[in-house]
Amino acid sequence: MNKQHLIIILLMISHCLYAQQTTIHMGTSETDLILKTAPNGRLYQAYFGEKLINPSDITHLSHYITKPASDGSVTPRGWEVYPVSGGEDFFEPAFAIQHNDGNMTSYLYFQSSKTQKIDNNTQHISIEMADDKYPLFVTLHYITYHKENVIKSWTEIKHKEKKPVEISQYASSMLCFESPSYYLTEYSGDWAKEAQESTQKLQFGKKIIDTKLGSRAAMYAYPFFQLGFEQEAQENQGKVLLGTIGWTGNFRFTFDVDNVGNLRIISGINPHASTYSLNPNEVFKTPEFIYTLSYNGIGKASRNLHNWARNYQIKNGKEDRFTLLNNWEATYFNFDEPQLSQLMHEAKELGVDLFLLDDGWFANKYPRENDKAGLGDWEVMKSKLPHGLPGLVEEAKKAGVKFGIWVEPEMVNPKSELFEKNPDWAIKLPNRETYYYRNQLVLDLSNPKVQDYVFSVVDNILTENPDIAYFKWDCNSPITNIYSPYLKEKQSHLYINHVRGVYNVLDRLNEKYPHLPMMMCSGGGARCDYKGLEYFTEFWCSDNTDPIDRIFIQWNFSKFFPIKSMAAHVTTWNKEASIKFRTDVAMMCKFGFDISLKDLTENERTFCTQAVTNYNQFKDAILEGDFYRLVSPYDGNHASVMHVNENKDKAILFTYDLFPLYSEKTFPIKLQGLDSQKRYKVTEINLMPNSNSSLSANGKTYSGDYLMKVGIEGFTASRMNSRVIKLTVE
Ligand code: DGJ
Repeated sequence: MNKQHLIIILLMISHCLYAQQTTIHMGTSETDLILKTAPNGRLYQAYFGEKLINPSDITHLSHYITKPASDGSVTPRGWEVYPVSGGEDFFEPAFAIQHNDGNMTSYLYFQSSKTQKIDNNTQHISIEMADDKYPLFVTLHYITYHKENVIKSWTEIKHKEKKPVEISQYASSMLCFESPSYYLTEYSGDWAKEAQESTQKLQFGKKIIDTKLGSRAAMYAYPFFQLGFEQEAQENQGKVLLGTIGWTGNFRFTFDVDNVGNLRIISGINPHASTYSLNPNEVFKTPEFIYTLSYNGIGKASRNLHNWARNYQIKNGKEDRFTLLNNWEATYFNFDEPQLSQLMHEAKELGVDLFLLDDGWFANKYPRENDKAGLGDWEVMKSKLPHGLPGLVEEAKKAGVKFGIWVEPEMVNPKSELFEKNPDWAIKLPNRETYYYRNQLVLDLSNPKVQDYVFSVVDNILTENPDIAYFKWDCNSPITNIYSPYLKEKQSHLYINHVRGVYNVLDRLNEKYPHLPMMMCSGGGARCDYKGLEYFTEFWCSDNTDPIDRIFIQWNFSKFFPIKSMAAHVTTWNKEASIKFRTDVAMMCKFGFDISLKDLTENERTFCTQAVTNYNQFKDAILEGDFYRLVSPYDGNHASVMHVNENKDKAILFTYDLFPLYSEKTFPIKLQGLDSQKRYKVTEINLMPNSNSSLSANGKTYSGDYLMKVGIEGFTASRMNSRVIKLTVE
């Protein structure tokens, strides 16, 4: 008997031992996820919904039993937790494999499960499953976050066949639902058009949201979705699932409604052009699928994700964020040392923490004067900046602000010394004309040498300039001309190994510089996922900083990401909007400027400086507090959001009038999240110098109860008008 036969016999014995029913009960403070084995020894989702208060009721749950056939037999179908292609379930599988003998079927039998307490709030449940005919092992992982009501799940796949097996589908997770109707909201986009929502009722069949862009992966489709049950998802009531995948590359969500109206949601890496040949004993780990089920609408679901992200996921989730002045919109590529020094002093005048130098500071043989050359050559451009980065860091010190810098280290312009020396470091077809996106190519991060190089870009800058306090990491191109000179005949590994290579670099940077704040940017907001945010403290939501457009973009991103991770700057986009309106829109997020004070009047400068002071005073509410979307810009001509600090003794309300009609009737804004027993003084802040508040509630004190039930008249009928209103406990 050979080793493979022995393993299979052992698996069959354990399969018999576990043929009696096993129940795996996971949950959070608000939801239960219950899995059960069926008499066939396989694992099924028995329940995912509102927390059951009577443990004995769990015995009644048996979702895996479908209606008996006409001959009375009952074959479990549907609801399997990780169904494999080739089984008796004819709908979309989670997993597909081709074994060494060419066979394309597998059945996974439950083996064991283990629950490990990570802390008082968090449990890690791992479930071992195995095939009885092949040495194939699958482990399902779940981490449950009790207080935040969030679950994340991923899968590990391993085998002990003689040769590599081909895996062509490898979902992170599958969830099943039974409801009379489902309404899916997806988010699409493009440069300057990020996170545009659209909703549809799911009907029989499949709806797929995916991307094949490789890097800059979320440019057209975002790695998150919202699902309403029995109605379109509502802000403050009803059952809503928010789901998102932590993968900075090609992802895929499949929503499959079957013949009886049950829905399965399969989330994971997009297997497009990515059949993976898995070596014996190698572990294939999928990305994490993160989700929260709310019975109080999207608002509650968002706050679940926000709390979870700050407590557990994003880099330095509990730490403060810098306010900053970025030079991109003020100068683009055209700057020199005196201009930068001027901007640093303007940053100081504004009162922000940091000056951020953007694109255009590097490369000598092919200077980075525009986006056509220089990417890859990360030495300072001597003609432009004769005193180098140390000179700029010093200048920032003199001005009294910190210094941050832009890089795009995953990319190369063919017009660069890096490309001249290492043409095979770029992803590029050997036998076809090259197609360029923004005149650049993506470096092949599946190649460990390239990983070392990319790591060294940031590491060298920090070694030379340990006082650099911030990085903006950009990524402006999707993967074009998909071919890796390094992977040779294993091209179908490229999309996956490239992303893993990016993570390898970021892991090393996180390890060496654990407190370094970094902004994730991708030609605007085309990178915004929770694996990325493990390495980045924030992301750039969009190059579109027109405040009207931004209200919509920020509204949608805020459903999934905490405010402290969403960077928003005041710029000159939409000069018809006042500086106050532009500032008030940026202030609802992680605040900064991308403007030169030279373009502002004295009054406007004073206003901006005051706005920074106000922001700093309310950081505990804006960055750390609970966020409420009160009035949707999609519902009319106004929008309003508010932040409440943890103790509920401080809140800040933002009101925006977009394009109201003449003399339009407005309604009071009902606040949320306050303590109904406390009394709050209402004061309008962020007023232009020498102007007075016209807010009727200004200076008055109300109970939280009144503010939440009756509300305040915050809107006006003026176009592009805004108010920032503070609420402080008397
Ligand atoms: C795209 C980013 O979104 C911008 O903010 C800016 O950094 C440019 N790239 C620089 O090339």
